Amino acid sequence: MRLILFGAPGSGKGTQADILASQFNLEKISLGDILRKEVGKGSSLGMEVKQYMDKGELVADDTVRGVIAANLRDDNFILDGYPRNRKQAETLEGILEEKNCSIDAFIYLDVSQATIVDRLSKRRVCPKCGTIYHLDSMPPKEDNLCDQCGAGLEQRDDDNPETIKKRWDVFLENSKEIFDFYKQKGLFVSVDGGKPKEEVLEEIRGKLQNKKILT
Ligand code: AP5
Repeated sequence: MRLILFGAPGSGKGTQADILASQFNLEKISLGDILRKEVGKGSSLGMEVKQYMDKGELVADDTVRGVIAANLRDDNFILDGYPRNRKQAETLEGILEEKNCSIDAFIYLDVSQATIVDRLSKRRVCPKCGTIYHLDSMPPKEDNLCDQCGAGLEQRDDDNPETIKKRWDVFLENSKEIFDFYKQKGLFVSVDGGKPKEEVLEEIRGKLQNKKILT
């Protein structure tokens, strides 16, 4: 199974990608996570992309193409955060054609702007294992410590009001053209991402079953 998760910043892509990857044995490929690791290492790629990520802008399409191509190793995967515009969607098609495979569904997590602001201001992440928390709806068992590995939780550098606004604008700018691209291919699936995470997951499963992607 080959899935794309698309949505505004904070719509729950990472949260749902983690669950779907573990339930269906898919490789999770999160472009944001990969790029943040490079920034953390201080690699040349990390230094190149940091300025864009800090401002909430998209990294150049040609740069992220190489990163995605290098990480698409498995036949079963879930893409979190790629593609984000029509050009990236076309690039992905080309990469997959070379591998003789194609996408099964493009899942859009539909969430209001007010929900996004709440989710991102209260998000905490584990810098060691990547587990995602929310101070109200998915709090850690012990204050500020990861349930999985015990590391201290952090707030992401780009979860500040100014950068959140820019990321939201970038999402709005690109969504119509990418929706049209996947609607034309019959792959577009829209899900109410504003519900609790278990209900979002159920809706995704139900819609994939309707499309005969899941049995
Ligand atoms: P990226 O890391 O992908 O950030 P994003 O798209 O802004 O999305 P987020 O990771 O912020 O949110 P999410 O949708 O994963 O939500 P989450 O599950 O964490 O990208 C960062 C940057 O990298 C970009 O700005 C860009 O610079 C660069 N980049 C990435 N991809 C690129 C590309 N293709 N091209 C060019 N540049 C690229 O959830 C958020 C919070 O809500 C958490 O606290 C969570 O616990 C909570 N939550 C989740 N679901 C629910 C629910 N159902 N109910 C209640 N709370 C929930």
